[in-house]
Amino acid sequence: MPLVLLEEPLFLHILTQLRDERTDQVMFRKGMVRLGRLMGYKIANYLDFDYVTVRTPLGVTTRGVVIRDLDNIVIINVLRAATPLVEGLLKAFPAARQGIIAASRKEIEAPEPPKEMEIIISYEKIPRITENDVVIVADPMIATASTMLKVIEKVSKSSPKRMIIASVIASKYGVRRILERHPNVMLFTVSVDPELNSKGYIIPGLGDAGDRSFG
Ligand code: URA
Repeated sequence: MPLVLLEEPLFLHILTQLRDERTDQVMFRKGMVRLGRLMGYKIANYLDFDYVTVRTPLGVTTRGVVIRDLDNIVIINVLRAATPLVEGLLKAFPAARQGIIAASRKEIEAPEPPKEMEIIISYEKIPRITENDVVIVADPMIATASTMLKVIEKVSKSSPKRMIIASVIASKYGVRRILERHPNVMLFTVSVDPELNSKGYIIPGLGDAGDRSFG
């Protein structure tokens, strides 16, 4: 199941606030943090776990669950827009190691929606990734997916056990591009929006997620 569409009332409620042009910077950032936390809990449903037996203070044994992957999570923050989303994900995965990739899109104005954007990576620092790790790449807005494809290509060189994308809105075109090339990647998003405009913004979208979070 490579696309996980979180079309549930609480996710959609928060997304609606984020889309609303009247939502101010503070509320926007808080909404992103909440979505990150909630999405983290959904991602946890796909992690590997073991059944264990524990003894309670009443001297009775009972069956429980230990999520094995919780100590092997690496979250990659695609700066700057993903920062509040990562803050939320870290509430679900407090032991995660973190990587940073600063990527910016070259501004364009074309007659047609772009098929690809020129991406400039100006800084990256990623912890060592092993074959036991689950990598979560956080980027709230997946438009042409040019940034995401670059990040996936970088990370997949380390052969992590699983690669997961945490996004809020992905364009239909971006989803198709990622999943055609990387069918094993799991893409979590709250909405798949139909279009891109001539500047590469998602329509209807929510505007520039970085500008709206950072003011
Ligand atoms: N990045 C954004 O912040 N918004 C878009 O619509 C597309 C990319």
